[in-house]
Amino acid sequence: MTRPRIFETIAGLRADVEAARRSGRRIAMVPTMGALHEGHLSLVRAAQAKADLVIVSIFVNPTQFAPNEDFDAYPRDNDSDIAKLAELGVDAVFLPTVGEMYPKGFATGVSVGGPSQGLESVTRPHFFNGVALVVTKLLLAALPDLAIFGEKDYQQLCVIRQFVRDLNIPIEIEGAPTVREDDGLAMSSRNRYLGPDERKRAALLPAVLRETLQALDAGTPVADALDRGRRRLTDGGFEVDYLELRAADTLAPVNDATRDMRLLVAAKLGATRLIDNMPWSRAS
Ligand code: PAJ
Repeated sequence: MTRPRIFETIAGLRADVEAARRSGRRIAMVPTMGALHEGHLSLVRAAQAKADLVIVSIFVNPTQFAPNEDFDAYPRDNDSDIAKLAELGVDAVFLPTVGEMYPKGFATGVSVGGPSQGLESVTRPHFFNGVALVVTKLLLAALPDLAIFGEKDYQQLCVIRQFVRDLNIPIEIEGAPTVREDDGLAMSSRNRYLGPDERKRAALLPAVLRETLQALDAGTPVADALDRGRRRLTDGGFEVDYLELRAADTLAPVNDATRDMRLLVAAKLGATRLIDNMPWSRAS
């Protein structure tokens, strides 16, 4: 087990990656906010299967949190994160400070339309521009050949694909499947906010997604299936932000011609907001 090389500056990371690129190695990046769990680690393994050198970034990005959100409370545990990455044999970890990413006088934004509209943006209007800004900066700092993101944050993945394409950023973006706990709950750094009773009830979220997909498979009209799903969640103690079926690529509302779709949900259990999603295709 070798300790990964740790970089706190963009210049240091660049010099390291540049040397690897000159020697012809394929480079993959996995951006994270730390508090690493099996979901993150699955992205690292996917990156290792596709590249010779893997960089994991750990940066709790202030620009994607609103003032009333959990930026200060967000779990931070660099030592244990680095130990997990060392165990997997990760080559490099980028651990910038807020000042390194957003130095005094920083004055630029990245604003994304298309798939960033609706869903998460209704309750978190600042969120995707913050993600787009930091991911642009992380990708340009490392300039990997590819970067891997989880389908767990499906709208985020669509937004990242959109601005990478629009801005001609020469990096492949790959999605990786959601890793779940035994009871189906999608792994998330925020699951640790759930109390023991809430944690048990949280499994209703993926269960309702599955039930809704079964109802759609059985021919239930979309609006009815979604209404039933929302009711099931409310009855189970969730406060539902949205349960929506959207086109899988653009996240536009579906119509009878839409083939590949995504069922997306966000709901609060107590003070904890959970999101999840699953794919659905109409039988032809
Ligand atoms: P974070 O929530 O730490 O997630 C980092 C990456 O891990 C994201 O691509 C996310 O989709 C993926 N991920 C999280 N839980 C997962 C799970 N259960 N299964 C598979 N993948 C999972 O998403 C962010 O950080 C930030 O917004 C970031 C993109 C790093 C920009 O700041």
